[in-house]
Amino acid sequence: MTMVGTRYLVRPGRAGDADDLAALQAATQLQPVTGGEPDPAIEAWVRDLMDGHPSVTPDDFLVVEDTATGRPAASLVGLRQDWYLGGARLPVGQVELVATAPGHRGNRLTEMLFAALHDRYRAGGVTLQMIEGIPYFYRRLGYDYALADDGAPSVPAASLPADGDDGSGAGLTVRAATVDDADALAAIDRRLTGDQVLSCPRDAGVWRYEIAGRRAADIARNAVAVLVDGAEVVGYLVHSVQLYGAGELVLFAAACDRPADWTRAAPAMLAHLGVAGRQHTVAGQSFNLLRQRLNPQHPLVRLGPPGVPKRQRGWYLRTTDPVELLAHLTPVLRARWAGAGLRWPASSMTIDTYGRAARLEFTDGELTAVTAGVRSPNPAVDPGTHAAIPPGALLQLALGYRTLPEVLAAWPDCVPRDRRTEQFLTAAFPPVEARLWPRA
Ligand SMILES: CC(C)(COP(=O)(O)OP(=O)(O)OC[C@H]1O[C@@H](n2cnc3c(N)ncnc32)[C@H](O)[C@@H]1OP(=O)(O)O)[C@@H](O)C(=O)NCCC(=O)NCCS
Repeated sequence: MTMVGTRYLVRPGRAGDADDLAALQAATQLQPVTGGEPDPAIEAWVRDLMDGHPSVTPDDFLVVEDTATGRPAASLVGLRQDWYLGGARLPVGQVELVATAPGHRGNRLTEMLFAALHDRYRAGGVTLQMIEGIPYFYRRLGYDYALADDGAPSVPAASLPADGDDGSGAGLTVRAATVDDADALAAIDRRLTGDQVLSCPRDAGVWRYEIAGRRAADIARNAVAVLVDGAEVVGYLVHSVQLYGAGELVLFAAACDRPADWTRAAPAMLAHLGVAGRQHTVAGQSFNLLRQRLNPQHPLVRLGPPGVPKRQRGWYLRTTDPVELLAHLTPVLRARWAGAGLRWPASSMTIDTYGRAARLEFTDGELTAVTAGVRSPNPAVDPGTHAAIPPGALLQLALGYRTLPEVLAAWPDCVPRDRRTEQFLTAAFPPVEARLWPRA
């Protein structure tokens, strides 16, 4: 618990806060959409997060309490999860439901909440923080856009197979998921963790929750469908349970266990999405577009019909410690250098992030460990520093959002010492596809 002046204190959430936080969040989120009315879908989500969620407890909320009334004045929630890249685990805290009650605005309560959250995550080894939110606002709290979100074209409903056309999935079909599919879904996610994409796997308990655990009104509730080959579950789709905006069904995730299946899976999946979208057609709102909230490189997008181009958006990211971030990626960096036939000619490489320095240790040219090094007061010109990289640029490189040439073009303060270091860093950080459907 942290006192801030005499008026406010910041504390972890408690089960007894459920009513207050549900009311606070329902009355502050999505107000332009609700026309100023409390949003029951947000209220249901808060109640689901406070009770019975497979990975969130009331303690994951942080609350600013007004000491005069003992009631919450502001709150947020952090959803702990692990992302994977090439087999390496990255601990992530996804921040959601940031709100201040109107009567308490102007007191920088969000800054207080984030300071407490960052302290908590630094102590708990949650290396990355992620948030999707108000443009620019979170930059003020140390976040940078460092991950691509969205960007796949939206497909007109008329371009999807008509009802009765199974899309010629040639033996592969799609049906609604049941909780009995949870183990198979978790196995598909587990296998994806070894790929060179950023993924956010769910275990069987979380899949059961996604399929049948949420309140009907929860804004985070989605429909899960499985791709089947005979009796075997070989892929999945996750899409919205309602149409948004001007009749848009939103597709959040699509996965196929065996990459070779994609050419057969894509038509079957698109046929299913057409049926799902048309089912939601009700008076006053008809199914117009399949909004694919996927990366443009996603196999389903590449194999699907052309659509309306969409500008890629970004997720805000922050790291509690760039050295810890590189340490998590040790096996990935080692494999990339080995794959490029590169062996570092010295026993260490120092990457300074203008505040923290990482010492990369090598044995016979191979990376063996990343530890904290001695930082230089002026890393950009220090002969003992191999590269000076601002933390925001390192984040973009580490997550495969930007390559070294792109970073060098945009960040004059990103300074590799020599050509060899530049060659190593280029090979270390190729572009990575973010195939993420973050937790909620
Ligand atoms: C966004 C929100 C949480 C900020 O509340 P707060 O931390 O109490 O912020 P304050 O009122 O103390 O304002 C702090 C600064 O942020 C700016 N700010 C506040 N709300 C903002 C918004 N929606 N967009 C951009 N800037 C905003 C303020 O102008 C102020 O800037 P200044 O330092 O230049 O004066 C609050 O406005 C809110 O609850 N909004 C509705 C819910 C919402 O949109 N949540 C975010 C979802 S990602």
